[in-house]
Amino acid sequence: MLTQVHDITLHYVDQGQGSAILLIHAFPLSSAMWQPQIVALAPHFRVIAPDLRGFGLSDVPPGPYSMDLFAADLAGLLDNLGIEQVILGGLSMGGYIAFAFMRHYPARVRALFLADTRANADTSDARVGRETNAQLAESQGAGAIADKMLPALLAPHATPELHAHVRGIIERNQPQGIAAALRGMALRPDSTDLLAQINVPTLFIGGSEDTLTTPAVLHEMHAAVVGSQMVELPGAGHLSNLEQPDAFNAALLTFLHAL
Ligand code: MLT
Repeated sequence: MLTQVHDITLHYVDQGQGSAILLIHAFPLSSAMWQPQIVALAPHFRVIAPDLRGFGLSDVPPGPYSMDLFAADLAGLLDNLGIEQVILGGLSMGGYIAFAFMRHYPARVRALFLADTRANADTSDARVGRETNAQLAESQGAGAIADKMLPALLAPHATPELHAHVRGIIERNQPQGIAAALRGMALRPDSTDLLAQINVPTLFIGGSEDTLTTPAVLHEMHAAVVGSQMVELPGAGHLSNLEQPDAFNAALLTFLHAL
């Protein structure tokens, strides 16, 4: 489906009926990464999975794309769909955007799940790395970003088929969108202070072998959000929803059915 938000066209998946769940994808992927979750959740819930600006089949306007801008796009999408409140879920960059959404539109969030993400801002070294990667995307394309990131996105024992699947999702993105999101992530503020203010049911999910956003980082956030739950998925790396989809979906459905 397509909709106009802030003068751009956003593509999104909208499947199922019931309480609305908004799934925010990771960098540098698209809504395609949520396919195993859409299949599992849509029989029970209304699942909305947008391609963020710059990704998938959505428009690729000039950047940088701040996390606030992504969050405003999502609020606009929900307005267009006539949805006031959602269960909000994000993986990695999707989590950074979920924090921005919580900061700006807390009343629109009924429950939250955060996978393989972190609350803190980039270090100055990480910001330099973002700019290097943005220039790499611009000069050599999405394939060069896939080459560089895939070893960190998936656990070492991930299958060649999963590598090829994730590479395909990355390579369907435009280099300009990838660069704009990298520069936006570099600008994001620290969200650690927000954790103590979260007062909706919250689930943290993370792969035990995630080296980008380690289980220790997730456990720290879990400790800071009163009443939150935490599930660590053995054997999964950073893209835990794709690496251990059955365990990820089971944890999510247990959380969602208890709401
Ligand atoms: C992601 O998976 O969204 C990225 O690894 C996030 C990041 O680069 O910080």
